[in-house]
Amino acid sequence: MADRFPIRRIDHIEFHVGNARQAAAFYQHAFGFRMTAYRGLETGCRETTSYVLECGAIRFVLTSGLAPDTAAARFAHAHGDGVAVVALEVPDAARAFAEAQRHGAVGAADPVEEQDEYGRLRSAGIRAYGDTVIRLVERQDYAGVFAPGFEPRGGPEPRDADVGLTAIDHVVANVELGQMDRWVRFFAETMGFTELLHFDDEAISTEYSALMSKVMQDGAGRIRFPINEPATGRRKSQVAEYLDYFGGPGVQHIAFATGDIVATVSRMRARGMAFLSVPAAYYDDLPGRVPAIGPYTGVLARLGILADRDEDGYLLQIFTQPVQDRPTVFFEVIERRGATGFGQGNFKSLFEAIEREQARRGNLVEAAS
Ligand code: FE2
Repeated sequence: MADRFPIRRIDHIEFHVGNARQAAAFYQHAFGFRMTAYRGLETGCRETTSYVLECGAIRFVLTSGLAPDTAAARFAHAHGDGVAVVALEVPDAARAFAEAQRHGAVGAADPVEEQDEYGRLRSAGIRAYGDTVIRLVERQDYAGVFAPGFEPRGGPEPRDADVGLTAIDHVVANVELGQMDRWVRFFAETMGFTELLHFDDEAISTEYSALMSKVMQDGAGRIRFPINEPATGRRKSQVAEYLDYFGGPGVQHIAFATGDIVATVSRMRARGMAFLSVPAAYYDDLPGRVPAIGPYTGVLARLGILADRDEDGYLLQIFTQPVQDRPTVFFEVIERRGATGFGQGNFKSLFEAIEREQARRGNLVEAAS
């Protein structure tokens, strides 16, 4: 059966930030991205400054507004630094836009074709949760560095800059209480995604709080977008804390794949990245739960890496602290050894670790009734 909404890959993730130049320096240092392109005053763009950073198959665009009435400045004012655009490469942007609209998507940007000496780039945008836009990018007729208006901009590229991140494994959204199924339907109806997994509040709960999650996957099974909503608990859940500080729904975390999580996390820690800490007791029964990691338990414990197993294999994962002032967006590093899940065996210890951080921020408070 033909995929009615073919998607080639996640083309890029665009963040709107308060200061793109400084954010670019942080992402290059902490995650080993290298700068590939720039658009700003020097290239004739009067409204915004953007830096394009790449690492393996991952491409980030960091954009800040040069005036308060720009979309990027308004976004950063409302939400803090965060994900404004999840861009998907499609074979035909206008057709994908029409298909999504026919199934109820609200347009954010009509199809446009931009052109320079490197060819034509076509794109369009539809609205997703909160102020997030899904941009549809058609780039098979474009050979430039990123998009018309951008100029190549390379920094020095020392060999050891790379920390080993290879691709985006999944992109997770937090939405409001009662809204998860609305966004599940949005991905199913507009873009032909299917529900891969779901976790109810029994599966994802601690003494204090709970959340629910459904994982949506595209027709080709390459792109996975989990969606969380808070569930009622005794105290404010991590999703509710995010919604308060982000000012509504949005991207909660992006998971990066690596082929060697021990090397990746060692390098990231050496560069000062702060991860969620795991109690030593977590590792006591880990070799029993995930026998394959037995010989490596010591190094995993030293680095704070979690492990989980499913019927297809096992995985190793770790979560950073939020990377901006507001307790909103964070990152995951994941190494899959066959496993196709999301580390459900770690949910409880992970959420307890998040709640310890929430408590330090004064945000693990009684739930409003
Ligand atoms: Fe994740």
